[in-house]
Amino acid sequence: GKPIIPYEEIGAERLSLLVDAFYARVAMHPKLKPIFPDDLSETARKQKQFMTQYLGGPNIYSEEHGHPRLKARHNPFPITPERAQAWLECMSEAMDEIGLSGKFRETFYQRLVMTAHHMVNAPDSEE
Ligand code: HEM
Repeated sequence: GKPIIPYEEIGAERLSLLVDAFYARVAMHPKLKPIFPDDLSETARKQKQFMTQYLGGPNIYSEEHGHPRLKARHNPFPITPERAQAWLECMSEAMDEIGLSGKFRETFYQRLVMTAHHMVNAPDSEE
């Protein structure tokens, strides 16, 4: 039958490929690159841990870092609506790249849209 846990449906290997494809885009994105560290390997490692538990897998992010408190952890960075859109575009392209499609992709992406909008903590610049 169909796996009930989204993490089991995507699997650790494809989740890892997705996160790597995502940060490869973030590293090149003019609106995102400036607020991220130059070396994204630790960021990607944490994101793989986070997404594992976000998708119902083992709580490996919280075991190492404590409660996610995602909004608070993003406070040091100006997350504008434009940056949220850019983040989601990078994710959508990463999903294309690894061939994630169908109902799973739709549901996962819609959750990310809500989470990304929740992270917004600054207005777009007037320029
Ligand atoms: C960390 C930006 C949305 C999950 C970060 C960092 C930045 C950032 C600059 C710090 C990277 C570092 O120091 O290593 C953004 C922007 C977003 C966004 C511009 C646009 C809305 C999201 C969303 C999620 C997420 C939607 C989850 C679904 C994380 C996680 C971390 C992180 C798990 C690592 C936190 C830690 O240090 O433990 N993000 N983020 N972010 N972000 Fe985002």
